[in-house]
Amino acid sequence: MSEIESEIVNEAPLVSRSVDNPILQIQDLHVWYELKRFGFGHAGYVRAVDGVQFELRQGEAMACVGESGCGKSSLMKTILGLNRPTKGDIVFDDQRLTETKGEDLRLYRAKIGYVQQDPFSALPPFMTVQRIMEEPLVINGVTDKTERLTRIKKILEEVKLAPVEEVLPKFPHMLSGGQQQRVVIARAMIMEPKLLVADEPVSMLDASVRVEILRLLRNLQEKHNLSVIYITHDLSTVRYFSEYIFVMYAGEVIEIAKMEDLLKDAKHPYTLALLEASSDPNADNALVMREVPQGEPPSLVNPPTGCRFNPRCPKIIEGLCEVKRPPNVEVAPHHKVACWLYDEEGMNAA
Ligand SMILES: Nc1ncnc2c1ncn2[C@@H]1O[C@H](COP(=O)(O)OP(=O)(O)O)[C@@H](O)[C@H]1O
Ligand SMILES: [Mg+2]
Repeated sequence: MSEIESEIVNEAPLVSRSVDNPILQIQDLHVWYELKRFGFGHAGYVRAVDGVQFELRQGEAMACVGESGCGKSSLMKTILGLNRPTKGDIVFDDQRLTETKGEDLRLYRAKIGYVQQDPFSALPPFMTVQRIMEEPLVINGVTDKTERLTRIKKILEEVKLAPVEEVLPKFPHMLSGGQQQRVVIARAMIMEPKLLVADEPVSMLDASVRVEILRLLRNLQEKHNLSVIYITHDLSTVRYFSEYIFVMYAGEVIEIAKMEDLLKDAKHPYTLALLEASSDPNADNALVMREVPQGEPPSLVNPPTGCRFNPRCPKIIEGLCEVKRPPNVEVAPHHKVACWLYDEEGMNAA
C-alpha cells in the first residue's frame, strides 16, 4: 500500500441512491493534492475530495452545492478526466476512468461537455466564434468542412445565438457575458455529449441573464436526454434546475436528496444554514453566512476530527460530534444525511 493510500482512512462514504443502469458512477472518490513546502519537501495533502459517492442516470440532472473551497471543482475536473483520482474510481458510460488512457481518454472526454464559471477566460481571445467551434470537431476527426459548418450553425441556433452569420466572425470580447456563455455552452454541446458538467455557469453573469442561461441548460437537457451535473454555491438557483441535489462540506457529501425533499425537509444543520442564507432577499443570490454557521470553512489539510462541521455547528452534541465521524442515516427514501442528530446513538447522547 502506498503512503497516500495508508493515510486515507477506510470509512464508508455517504452513498447516494443506487439506480439501475447509471450512466455515471462515482465510487468512493478521493482527490488529494500534495502540499510541498520549499526546502522541506512533503508537507501533507489538501483533501479536496474525500470519499464522494453518487450515481446518475441518463437524462437526469444532479446539483452539487457547497461553499467556495469545499472541493466542487476538483470533483468535476476529475469527472472530466483532467485530474486523476487519488483513490476510488469513476465509471462513465461503461468506461472506468482509472483504466482509461491515450486515445480512449480522448474519446471519454469527448462524451462530456464542460461549461466553466467564467466564459471570458474560457474562450481564446484571438479566435473567432467559428474557429472556437471548429476546434473540437477538428480534434475529434470531423474532416469535412461543410459538415463542420452545418453542425456549428445548428447548435448556435439552438443556444439562440442568432443570426448565426453575424456571430460566426466575432471575437469573444465583441459579445456580451450572456452571449459568451452561450458560445461556451454551444462548444460543450458540439460533440453531442451524454453528460454536461456545468461548474457555476451563471455566477459571473448579470442577474438578468442567469435565469435565461439556466433555462437554456434545462431545455438542452430535455431535448438531448442529457445528464447534467450543475455545480453552484448558490442554493437559490438550483430549485429551477435539477431532480437531485447533494451538499458538499469540506470534501465530503453531507446530505443527498430529491430536490423537493431537500427544499422542504432538509436535515443537516449546514444545509439548513445554506437554505436560510439563500432565502435572504438581501443576499443578492450569494451564499451569505449569517448567525449560523459562524466561523471559517475548515482546513482541508488538517480537517476537524469527528464531524467536519462540528466547530461551526449550532447543534453540536458535546463528546460525540467532535470525536466520532457521523454515520450515514437514511431519513427517508433517497434522502441520506451524515449527522449524529438523526442516529440513535446521537439521540441518546444529546
Ligand atoms: N491544483 C491544486 N493544487 C493544490 N490545491 C488545490 C488545487 N486545486 C484546488 N486546490 C485546493 O483544493 C480545495 C478545493 O478547491 P476547489 O475544488 O476549487 O473547490 P470549490 O470549487 O468548491 O471552490 C481548496 O482548498 C483549493 O485551494
Ligand atoms: Mg469551483
